Amino acid sequence: MQLRGRLTGAQRRALDELLPLYSANSEVLLDAAQLFGRSAPLGIEIGFGTGDALIHWATAQPDWNLLGVEIYPPGIGALLNRIEEDGVENVRIVQGRAEDVVEKVLSRASVAEVRIFFPDPWPKKRHHKRRLIQPAFVERLMGRMAVNGELHFATDWEPYALWATGVFAGFPELAPVEAANAQDLRPPTRFEQRGHRLGHQIFEFQFKKQG
Ligand SMILES: C[S@@+](CC[C@H](N)C(=O)[O-])C[C@H]1O[C@@H](n2cnc3c(N)ncnc32)[C@H](O)[C@@H]1O
Repeated sequence: MQLRGRLTGAQRRALDELLPLYSANSEVLLDAAQLFGRSAPLGIEIGFGTGDALIHWATAQPDWNLLGVEIYPPGIGALLNRIEEDGVENVRIVQGRAEDVVEKVLSRASVAEVRIFFPDPWPKKRHHKRRLIQPAFVERLMGRMAVNGELHFATDWEPYALWATGVFAGFPELAPVEAANAQDLRPPTRFEQRGHRLGHQIFEFQFKKQG
């Protein structure tokens, strides 16, 4: 278990009691049919925060298996509580860095859709190397995505949008697709709402992986 500071009592209970029921091993290749108890298209959300968008996705597409990847224990606790309260059956969690999870947990061509909403923007130049969207990470992700798999990415930080445009341009197999309505993909997330409060524009990227 990573850092558990600033957990509410409910989050702590959820991590203790529910995480073992809903989590996948972050060190072992995923057997999705075994973890979810059925075969279904696999979607992943990376950095789900408190999980609002993931709960929305799970409810909108109950016939999909959805895996949330997150490092932040209070967020994981919050999602676990929503899973329990709402009786959500098609979400599982991997606690770990997305870079490692994509490498170790996901098998080749297994992921039908990836969603990454408002990742940490790391605005200072010396921190740009910490941004999630990096050529090596996207390369790894491409290997795990199925043909015709979709990638959705959103940010409210314009310099990150420009950065991501440059990174995604290095992957010609990512064909831009007509943007779905953001409201269909997610309720405004916590960090999206913050972006709105700050008067930021929201930048949406949607791709289909070809070939
Ligand atoms: C700015 S928050 C956005 C949360 C949520 N998607 C939203 O829109 O409200 C970024 C989230 O990504 C998580 N995160 C940061 N780096 C990560 C990584 N390497 N792997 C997985 N999650 C990560 C953080 O813990 C945090 O919850």
